Amino acid sequence: MAREPVFQSNAPQDPIPSKGPAEKPLLDSSFSPDADLFDEQLRPKRLDQVVGQRKVVNLIRIMLDACKKRGDTLGHLLLDGPPGIGKTTLATVIPQELGVELQIAAGPAITAPKDLLPYLTNASHGSVLFIDEIHRLPPAVEEFLYPAMEDFRVDIALGDGLNARTINMQLKPFTVIGATTRAGMLTAPLRDRFPYREHLDFYETEDLTEIVRRNAKKLRTSISTEAAMEIARRSQGTPRKANNLLMRTRDFATLQDANGEITDAIAKEALHMLEIDGLGLERQDRRYMETLYNVFAGGPAGLSSLAHSMSVPPDTLEDDVEPFLLRTGLIQRTPRGRVLTANGYEHLGKAYPLAGTQAVFPSNQKKLF
Ligand SMILES: Nc1ncnc2c1ncn2[C@@H]1O[C@H](COP(=O)(O)OP(=O)(O)O)[C@@H](O)[C@H]1O
Ligand SMILES: [Mg+2]
Repeated sequence: MAREPVFQSNAPQDPIPSKGPAEKPLLDSSFSPDADLFDEQLRPKRLDQVVGQRKVVNLIRIMLDACKKRGDTLGHLLLDGPPGIGKTTLATVIPQELGVELQIAAGPAITAPKDLLPYLTNASHGSVLFIDEIHRLPPAVEEFLYPAMEDFRVDIALGDGLNARTINMQLKPFTVIGATTRAGMLTAPLRDRFPYREHLDFYETEDLTEIVRRNAKKLRTSISTEAAMEIARRSQGTPRKANNLLMRTRDFATLQDANGEITDAIAKEALHMLEIDGLGLERQDRRYMETLYNVFAGGPAGLSSLAHSMSVPPDTLEDDVEPFLLRTGLIQRTPRGRVLTANGYEHLGKAYPLAGTQAVFPSNQKKLF
């Protein structure tokens, strides 16, 4: 029988996982203080409740079955993908399926090996240590983690100078599940210590529709099929955005419909008021594209220049804004910087400059000089 996993937090500072600053856009119109609560309430608890990501889910199921059959501990697993796509969800579902303990650590909160040590010494046999935003671990912590992952041992340095000595501590076999929005930022030695690596991609609209419908049920709200599809279509392929939009449209429905039902019309009106456009772009996404057009003549523009112009941290742009714009082909990343594509110009309702005139400033900019 599966034991209920124990959620422990030994982090000396902020133990709240999965919500690093990079995941919380400053101007995200779909964000509200209740959003975190909903995240937890709506998060699938078991693997069979996880919708979509079939390839990854199937591979995880094979991993879990093989591990159970052998009576082994699970190999270390690295999950990468944009924010809100299901990394924390999978990382919490896996120990649940295995009936083992789960500890959650946030990369940015672990600033020195001593911050990581309690997690390692507390890890029970076969338990899972989830390290969110693992690319933000400092190099000294990474090096401390290598022997822990490879041989389940840590080398602790005591004292300085002549008195310095290292003690060796044996750990119980455990599993690290790492999550990152930037697989590319992980050092090769760290990446290589994960025998299992899975990439989570944006969701299909059908899968998001299913997520919206299931979650409406969990929230005891009725929703029309069209409304669920409309929310799914405008959620940028991201379950967290779909959940947030569901929550916001539910508020509109509570006020406007006698039964609180999210009808097609209410969903459309709510999305309009939330300034989510037909492609699902939010205010911040459009601002990014407009800045690229107005200030940088469509590009190329470096990430930090863009970030400065928008007064938004570059990390937020890279993690929260760019993945979807790149995926939908509205912008491109070139060696010289970010550029608006023909689709990007079209979405902004601007004429695409003819070949060779890319660097010419658009007419509305000329007036400024
Ligand atoms: N595959 C999925 N099926 C159903 N709901 C999902 C799925 N993936 C994510 N969600 C929902 O989206 C929310 C955000 O997902 P999360 O795992 O926290 O994303 P990440 O850790 O990648 O930023 C979860 O609380 C959950 O409600
Ligand atoms: Mg997360």
